[in-house]
Amino acid sequence: MVMKEELSILVQAQYPLIYLVTSEEERAEQTIEALAQTKPPRRVFIWTVTHGIVEYGQPRNVTQHNTVSPEAAIEWAIRQREPSIFVFKDLHPFIDSPAVTRWLRDAIASFKETQRTIVLMSPVQNVPIELEKEVVVLDYPLPDMSELNVVLSQQLELSRVRRTVTTEAREKLLKAALGLTRDEAEKVYRKAQVTSGRLTEAEVDIVLSEKKQLIRRNGILEYIEEDETLDAVGGLEELKHWLRQRSNAFTERAREYGLPQPKGMMILGVPGCGKSLIAKTTSRLWGLPLLRLDMGRVYDGSMVGRSEANLRNALKTAESISPAILFIDEIDKAFAGSSGSADSDGGTSSRIFGSFLTWMQEKTSPVFVMATANRVERLPGEFLRKGRFDEIFFVDLPNAEERKDIFRIHLSKRRTDITRFDLDQLVLVCDGFSGAEIEQALVAAMYEAFAQDREFTQLDIIAAIRATLPLSKTMQEQVTALRDWARQRARPAASSVAEYQRLEF
Ligand SMILES: Nc1ncnc2c1ncn2[C@@H]1O[C@H](COP(=O)(O)OP(=O)(O)O)[C@@H](O)[C@H]1O
Ligand SMILES: [Mg+2]
Repeated sequence: MVMKEELSILVQAQYPLIYLVTSEEERAEQTIEALAQTKPPRRVFIWTVTHGIVEYGQPRNVTQHNTVSPEAAIEWAIRQREPSIFVFKDLHPFIDSPAVTRWLRDAIASFKETQRTIVLMSPVQNVPIELEKEVVVLDYPLPDMSELNVVLSQQLELSRVRRTVTTEAREKLLKAALGLTRDEAEKVYRKAQVTSGRLTEAEVDIVLSEKKQLIRRNGILEYIEEDETLDAVGGLEELKHWLRQRSNAFTERAREYGLPQPKGMMILGVPGCGKSLIAKTTSRLWGLPLLRLDMGRVYDGSMVGRSEANLRNALKTAESISPAILFIDEIDKAFAGSSGSADSDGGTSSRIFGSFLTWMQEKTSPVFVMATANRVERLPGEFLRKGRFDEIFFVDLPNAEERKDIFRIHLSKRRTDITRFDLDQLVLVCDGFSGAEIEQALVAAMYEAFAQDREFTQLDIIAAIRATLPLSKTMQEQVTALRDWARQRARPAASSVAEYQRLEF
């Protein structure tokens, strides 16, 4: 595993201070213990605020004297001469104290060119400025398939039904648990087994639904299941074509062919024109899970460094579930503060934004970012720079042909026979309407007729349209500005470019 190698290299290269971000202490400790065996062997000491310093593998009461306070513990570590790794668990609440920071700097100085390393292990990253240049931050990844395989095997062994599990079922059970910590995976397997008395391919769904709940609990990522397909989206032919073309882009076959992994796309455009809808239906089209990243929630929490930790965790989970689509709806809202001079949140949003961009730049895992935005002026320029996304699409108000398509889709959803409606007439009346406004007018017409206890008609729809003032009129300036901007920089999502340029109001 890449990260384990990196950690091993850092320790052997005598890096004095490593920050390991993880909530899985046990797994991480085992990794450290394993790498400590290599040349030269090192002793491993674990510090906690409850027990002070205890050597790895020793009972908790065999503690070094007076090492409960962080300062004393670091001082103790400095006095050791043997090759050692000192693991400090959850030092983050103390690290901002001037004395602790100073002791850490002293340790760094005294560890130079010795085989001694301090590893700070915490679920959240909190690095004081004084240490920023000295510390290497590493993310401990969630278990991969082979690690989960160990967990699954143990679970199957306990139930003695191992023989009945096919290789295929095993793989599905493993895949279903990707994105969970080792403990979570164990719990989920156990629950599936308890629920149905066995652990076979039939239990994959139990594992999956448990995973969805666990992921939801962290509150930032959400598993989305969309029943609609691409056919529920009217118009946007260029965009659909682009998406269809990439249906198999995440397969092994595509890699062998020499194609790069798609990185992501941005869908900009007028509100209510199907951006979120098309993003959600892509999940079905590509057969990949859709994970919605709630950027607003990333900022939640009062603790310093919390937002970064939130984002980091969410991205880590997405990566471990990959190939997957990471859906960031209305990303402009989240980054509203980062471009302007008024940095009201003390720079948090621009920091978050920076780490997100870095992640996008460096990610090698097949996580396809699908972002939507209604307003471009809020988005920082770096974001839209060529190469960040594979493509930036602009979704305009639907043209006549597209409006017809949208009417047909939404009428067909509600009535099996729609021949009694004159779509061409409807299309003319609703010039300047978004897809959402068309749908709303249709629903309004149905309510009207329903209240009068009769079937709705063409005239009801026309009346509802006439009663609506579309956004393109009430917010004409914004819409025009957005179009002017997009015309230069983004690719139109609708099929006919000529049509697109003709559209003015
Ligand atoms: N092009 C379209 N085709 C079919 N329905 C549409 C279209 N555009 C909008 N709608 C309807 O309006 C709803 C809201 O659209 P949405 O995708 O949320 O718009 P956006 O994200 O662009 O603001 C959709 O769920 C769908 O019912
Ligand atoms: Mg939307």
